[in-house]
Amino acid sequence: MCDDSGPPDEVAGAYDAWAGTYDLDRNLTRDLDAEVVRRVGLAVTGLDVLEIGCGTGKNTTWLAVQARSVIALDFSPAMLARARTRVPAGPVTFVRHDVREPWPVADDAVDVVVGNLVLEHVRDLTPVYGEAARVLRRDGQLFLCELHPDRQRAGRQAEFVDPATGGTRRVAAHRHTVAEFVNGGIGAGFVLRHLGEWTEPGAPPDAPPRLLSVLFARPG
Ligand SMILES: C[S@@+](CC[C@H](N)C(=O)[O-])C[C@H]1O[C@@H](n2cnc3c(N)ncnc32)[C@H](O)[C@@H]1O
Repeated sequence: MCDDSGPPDEVAGAYDAWAGTYDLDRNLTRDLDAEVVRRVGLAVTGLDVLEIGCGTGKNTTWLAVQARSVIALDFSPAMLARARTRVPAGPVTFVRHDVREPWPVADDAVDVVVGNLVLEHVRDLTPVYGEAARVLRRDGQLFLCELHPDRQRAGRQAEFVDPATGGTRRVAAHRHTVAEFVNGGIGAGFVLRHLGEWTEPGAPPDAPPRLLSVLFARPG
């Protein structure tokens, strides 16, 4: 759970400001991510799922209709409020939580951990992989899909037009490498099952990948 007594987090505040327009803006990264998570072969049917950084529920809606249960974490109250209205009543529990802190989930409690477009806002990935290894059951899956490191190196990061000012606001972000995403999982005891580099339909053939995805298994 989030502690309301401290200073507001800058990233959470930015997403609070973005929440009202997040699903309306033209956003190729968001839309490609929705395609990837649905097509990559992630097994969720009848399983218990934990989603980190659920945002407005773009992927939670898809998880909710297939999974047995979904716990969806995010630290932006406004993003969570949008998700609550968007996701139909069902097996989803939304929790306001900072994923850099220990997750409010018991050991060996879920079959799948999913995170999309959240880790650019997390400097140290080690605790995230560690928490995923802790909460996943044996043979569980960890799926992450993030802005591709090549695009980060080219200066791209999450940004939006702030409705309050009309100005473009860049959300504080940390650069990660492919090696960090892969070796972070290996270091936490996962086995890499699939690595994807994704470009949106219609992009020029030489366009750099927009997204990187990794699918890990926790050994049985
Ligand atoms: C670009 S949005 C992605 C939302 C959703 N996963 C999607 O694919 O549309 C990033 C989300 O991660 C959340 N987030 C970023 N850092 C976080 C943290 N440390 N703890 C919890 N949520 C975080 C933000 O509040 C925001 O809702």
